[in-house]
Amino acid sequence: MDPDNNTASLPRHIAIIMDGNGRWARSRLLPRYVGHREGVKSVRRVVEACIDKQIKVLTLFAFSSENWRRPDEEVSLIMDLFVQTLKKEVAVLDRNGVRLRFIGERAAFSEKLRRLIAEAERETRENSKLELVIAANYGGQWDITQAVKTLAGRVEAGELSPGDITPELITPEVALADLPAPDLFIRTGGESRISNFLLWQLAYTELYFTDLLWPAFAEKDLDAALLWYANRQRRFGRTGEQVEQQKGA
Ligand code: IPE
Ligand code: IPE
Ligand code: MG
Repeated sequence: MDPDNNTASLPRHIAIIMDGNGRWARSRLLPRYVGHREGVKSVRRVVEACIDKQIKVLTLFAFSSENWRRPDEEVSLIMDLFVQTLKKEVAVLDRNGVRLRFIGERAAFSEKLRRLIAEAERETRENSKLELVIAANYGGQWDITQAVKTLAGRVEAGELSPGDITPELITPEVALADLPAPDLFIRTGGESRISNFLLWQLAYTELYFTDLLWPAFAEKDLDAALLWYANRQRRFGRTGEQVEQQKGA
């Protein structure tokens, strides 16, 4: 048993910032929206590849809590794309054994979108081949703030004192607590930043950045990231020698 997954060459959980849709479209003199639409095709490809490779969890950053700052028209086209994609893809995902889940603040979404999300989660909840987590209106700081609020409530109720609060008490209160932490993070689009994605959960994740724009990201590019991952030595604070010993044990 290896709770940290530091000896397996295949990640259990991959988390992706799907960036570069807009630039992909603009470089073809197309509206940014076309890039988002093409990005959905990449999602389909990567989901299928993860099923084939027996990856257990795939978390995709689809819309950040800061993306509301974009022009109204783009935000509204992205929301429409969520609705259309859910309508079209959920049955297929269900058939392929995918369990769909959403993390992020849903209250900001239209009633229609919230209903589709709830239905998708309900319809696919028995599936276990791949957990597909969509981060929508998600922010890592929002996530940690939620956890802090929950713990503050427990302090107020007299169940806990502030001195009892440890990382082990915070971890179960952030998103994805019931899943293994991401082993591999991928960001397309050439930026080397986290952009308020999973902050708590990425503490020991291997971070992979590629210049490829998300609509151009294909299975071979996932393979390249997986190969890179397989060559990492995950130490979790220990020495390289300790890790080698553990591997031999
Ligand atoms: C990522 O692509 C998709 C979302 C943030 C919704 P972008 O739209 O950020 O693409 P670039 O970074 O502008 O190229
Ligand atoms: C991160 O991409 C969010 C998603 C991919 C959904 P952004 O394009 O919003 O990130 P910044 O603004 O360049 O940091
Ligand atoms: Mg971007």
